[in-house]
Amino acid sequence: MTRSLQNRRILLVIGGGIAAYKALDLIRRLRERGAQVRPLLTRGAQEFVTPLAAAALAGERAHTDLFDRAEEADIGHIKLARDADAIVVAPATASLMARMATGDSSDLAATVLLATTLPILIAPAMNVRMWQHPATQRNLATLRGDGIRVVGPNDGAMAEAEYGPGRLAEPVEIADAVEAMLADVRPAPGFGFLAGRASGNGAKAGPLAGRRVLVTSGPTHEPIDPVRYLANRSSGRQGHAIAAAAAAAGAEVTLVSGPVSIPSPADVRLVPVETAREMLAAVEAALPADLAIFAAAVGDWRPAESHESKLKKDGSAPAPLALVENPDILATIARRAEGRPRLVVGFAAETETVLDHARAKIARKGCDLIVANDVSAAGGVMGGSANTVHLVGRDGTVETWPTLDKEEVGRRLIARFAELLDTPSTGP
Ligand code: C5P
Repeated sequence: MTRSLQNRRILLVIGGGIAAYKALDLIRRLRERGAQVRPLLTRGAQEFVTPLAAAALAGERAHTDLFDRAEEADIGHIKLARDADAIVVAPATASLMARMATGDSSDLAATVLLATTLPILIAPAMNVRMWQHPATQRNLATLRGDGIRVVGPNDGAMAEAEYGPGRLAEPVEIADAVEAMLADVRPAPGFGFLAGRASGNGAKAGPLAGRRVLVTSGPTHEPIDPVRYLANRSSGRQGHAIAAAAAAAGAEVTLVSGPVSIPSPADVRLVPVETAREMLAAVEAALPADLAIFAAAVGDWRPAESHESKLKKDGSAPAPLALVENPDILATIARRAEGRPRLVVGFAAETETVLDHARAKIARKGCDLIVANDVSAAGGVMGGSANTVHLVGRDGTVETWPTLDKEEVGRRLIARFAELLDTPSTGP
């Protein structure tokens, strides 16, 4: 177990929902990674878990009420709001999200969340209908716009025998998202935060020095059951080569990669993921970025249901595999109203009429550029070492490059993106 959150101080706000019991496991996961956790329970949370249980697991006193005289004398709400490296809200209920979105301060949790300047990650959990309600979705958009990070919710069976999005992200996923959020924040004692760069004073040179670059790479694995999954033939070679080239050009690079068998490039922060939804969460947690390159071959669909135990042959015909659509990560990021990376680049892996598809895709996804390539089996691009790419701009212009090895394609793409970042308008 890596102590990846060593000496990080997390204020964990536990909201009032059935998923509150999972917050206890989250305390353990965060502590395993070296974090110090200070729990704060809303009144609702205390209906599901006790402050004593949270305190015992955290090895710290659990905070509860706003007007607790002893508590205000000991550690006031303003100090709670400052004396940590990050705040995690798990589970973030519909009501807590609404209070955060409107700047309400009617209890200790809401007050601390209003008084803080720390980075905040919320892990929503609620009934499917409550999650899908336009009011909750509006609040979610407001919170994202305020720079609050979000992990989950996941799809799954809910306590009310309904199925859909609303389940709290797994504690390990939440801990991963905390790590990703803190990766570029230096621990700062006392008031507030020094939001800084991971490499801090080790300034790097190159055309992308001082820039933050996000790259997705590899396939996704979408589980059917614990041993089977849906995947594709992407090796991750092109995405990894781009990440390596960006790091060599002086950028601070986060590489969010699906399962691949190639090594991670030197000098990049690797965030390994399996599914499309994990990839989206990791990408959102890695923002802000100046440049985002979506080279991953994200599965368009996933099994509607992921079985907890291995499916068995029972002699009858196999059950049909029902699929549901995955989130479009590129489009989600390219269409963000706030915090959109300045340059958003997509890939178009096509087997026919490559350029027509690329032009349509650029409009559909809202990105600035598409790197199009022919991945029909004859070309050997998927898994191979060479690539022939066409750069397609928003205005439909196309630039076709000669066949090059993927490392060279990566270097040339990065040189081109660096130029575009240095000029006011974007286009190939
Ligand atoms: O729609 P299509 O899969 O052809 O689009 C390819 C581009 O969109 C790539 O840049 C890929 O990384 C991105 N993508 C995504 N999320 C999806 C599907 C594709 O980010 N669910």
